[in-house]
Amino acid sequence: MVPWKFPDFSSIKDDEEGKIIKEGRRIFLETYKYIGPDVKDPSKRYLGNNMDCQNCHLRDGTLKDVFGLVGVYSAYPAFDPRSNKVISIQERINQCMTRSMNGKPLPETSGEMKALVEYLKWLSTYVPKGTYTEGTGIPKINLINRAADTAKGRTVFARNCMTCHAENGFGVLNDPGNVMTAADSLTGYDFPPVMGPLSYNDGAGMYRLITAAAFIYAKMPYNDAVLSLEDSYDVAAFINSGLRPAFTSKGADYPDLKSKPIDSPNPPYADEFPESQHRYGPYQQMFKEGESSKYIDPNSYRK
Ligand code: HEC
Ligand code: HEC
Repeated sequence: MVPWKFPDFSSIKDDEEGKIIKEGRRIFLETYKYIGPDVKDPSKRYLGNNMDCQNCHLRDGTLKDVFGLVGVYSAYPAFDPRSNKVISIQERINQCMTRSMNGKPLPETSGEMKALVEYLKWLSTYVPKGTYTEGTGIPKINLINRAADTAKGRTVFARNCMTCHAENGFGVLNDPGNVMTAADSLTGYDFPPVMGPLSYNDGAGMYRLITAAAFIYAKMPYNDAVLSLEDSYDVAAFINSGLRPAFTSKGADYPDLKSKPIDSPNPPYADEFPESQHRYGPYQQMFKEGESSKYIDPNSYRK
């Protein structure tokens, strides 16, 4: 395993290669400006919402232990249990395009895809191909020994999240007046939507309870406050119980049902536990005899 390390942004040169890396970083930070639903050129409207990659891959994708993307380029092609085959980095980016951003796949030959890949490659400068970095992927958290409670989660949301993500969880645009009227407005979010029709869809990683709870426990509220583990699970259950876009082919995910993560909210399942328990827990008893109760992501290629 390689330690968490990436080059300094100021070291990116102004040559051909450097220009593409910088462009990739800009697309990562303001995705909606380049391929959002409101961009001028209709053929470039790939996203289904005005989110950006950094909304979840925090601080340019460089934040350790919270879906950080340092070293990820070097780990691909990688086996993907969700499609039960080896996929390229472009295919993995397109999973976030079609699920997290509720959009269409970005063509592999497009300038935007090439630039995003060059940026991810640059983030992996110190990570040799085929190795992986400590601190990528879903943060590891302990399980709680009851089902997550959406009613409690609503209270946690009101106390800890509304001030930024808005009362209904729909987020706050950095210029709300503009995006409602001008078709070509290029407005992103000060606080991205965690609920509603313009949030991630129900095929996204964030729609899984443990994934969302781990992200929230690690980083939200995005200030100095810290939630308890139970509050993190409850509020994750609350935001994922509201209306959001549907990912229509989610039933086809994990063709090998035995590799489906226990917190996948979308049936069918290989085991006898009900859908509600996959969705909200409690999870301990769902692990087979002898498996650790500390949650280890079964969806991870980092075995
Ligand atoms: C101080 C403001 C603030 C508070 C309070 C806050 N967030 Fe966030 N949250 C943010 C920002 C800003 C981002 C996006 C980070 C970025 O783009 O760099 C974010 C991102 C997210 C995301 C991922 C992106 C998305 O829209 O799905 C989730 C999920 C989330 N927050 C959930 C929560 C929950 C749950 C709470 C309450 C426990 C909470 N946040 C409290 C500011 C906040
Ligand atoms: C709503 C949140 C969200 C948004 C927005 C988002 N992602 Fe993701 N992304 C995730 C989650 C959750 C994972 C799964 C992490 C894991 O399994 O390790 C992930 C995984 C990835 C991976 C694979 C990481 C690995 O360790 O194998 C890549 C690459 C990636 N995202 C790129 C992007 C890019 C590029 C964008 C913008 C076009 C983007 N993502 C937007 C949530 C998001």
